[in-house]
Amino acid sequence: MNLTTRYMGLTLGCPLIASASPLNADIGNIRRLEDAGAGAVVLPSLFEEQIEAEADRQDHLVGMGSESSPEASSYFPAASEYRVGPDQYLDLVERASSAVAIPVIASLNGTTDEGWISYARLIEQAGAKALELNIYFIPADITTSGRDVERRYLDILKAVREIVSIPIAVKLSPYFSSVGNMARQLETAGADGLVLFNRFFQPDLDLARLEVLADMKLSSPDEIRLPLLWLAVLAGRVKASLAATTGVSTADEVIKYLLVGADVVMTTSSLLRSGIEHMTTLRAGLETWLRARDFASVDDARGLMSQRRIADPQAFERANYIRILQGYRA
Ligand SMILES: Cc1cc2nc3c(=O)[nH]c(=O)nc-3n(C[C@H](O)[C@H](O)[C@H](O)COP(=O)(O)O)c2cc1C
Repeated sequence: MNLTTRYMGLTLGCPLIASASPLNADIGNIRRLEDAGAGAVVLPSLFEEQIEAEADRQDHLVGMGSESSPEASSYFPAASEYRVGPDQYLDLVERASSAVAIPVIASLNGTTDEGWISYARLIEQAGAKALELNIYFIPADITTSGRDVERRYLDILKAVREIVSIPIAVKLSPYFSSVGNMARQLETAGADGLVLFNRFFQPDLDLARLEVLADMKLSSPDEIRLPLLWLAVLAGRVKASLAATTGVSTADEVIKYLLVGADVVMTTSSLLRSGIEHMTTLRAGLETWLRARDFASVDDARGLMSQRRIADPQAFERANYIRILQGYRA
């Protein structure tokens, strides 16, 4: 089965990518992902705070974890190894890029367009084939307008675009008033790829202790619905490559994302939950499905169910509440 995929001008042997996570901070794991059939890997993000902390000669931020899961904790390196400093990060990019033939995509996380952005060039020089911008910004200051948030994304992207020539993907938030318009603005500002969506931390409360719970759960397949909608809407309407992230558990989610038009499909939770070799299972499941439907390649199936190509485009915009109600008795 021909799974060859183009993503941001790169040629991948398969549309499956191990998304940014501490799992990919280890060269042994990256090799295993390649052996298991991944098309590319995204390294964990180098965080703006880490770069600033290094500049200030302070390392108090090491070990801070905005994302952690008890379920996942046995699979990834200790926080101190995960949140590495800039020099270690560049070393990781270099070692990973020479260890495997599949493209290694680096990731930068930040929310301002300040000095940390210059690391993008060093990352490029270290051998990354592309750069993912993980703009993890929650506008908790309620005086911040939607336009301000959009400008922040665009300013960061433009600043990075000016200093690197490798492809840039933006991992964006699902919370824009007009996701499609934002996608177009990002494309105009130089994004080669759009990763839908950043999975923002959502807190819970511990009712016994009256504490805010900062635990992050691994994703479930139900969560594909929001990215699925926007990938379906954007496919064929933007030139940027489209990456799906969130909710992949089995090959079914992979196939759905590809059918609505994702160029590549990323996964982290499934690998943390089931181990790196789960990549082989996802790939085999995709191949089996394509073969059973007589597709000769993944390209033949990609985008067949995007909003532009299905017979009833409204199907992506309308909920059938009547059907839901019929299932319940008052
Ligand atoms: C433990 C853990 C660490 C993560 N670290 C990063 C990171 O450094 N940078 C990033 O952009 N995303 C990070 N993510 C988000 C994943 O790349 C992915 O987008 C998200 O988990 C949704 O995909 P999934 O449903 O396949 O897990 C992390 C996720 C987890 C579970």
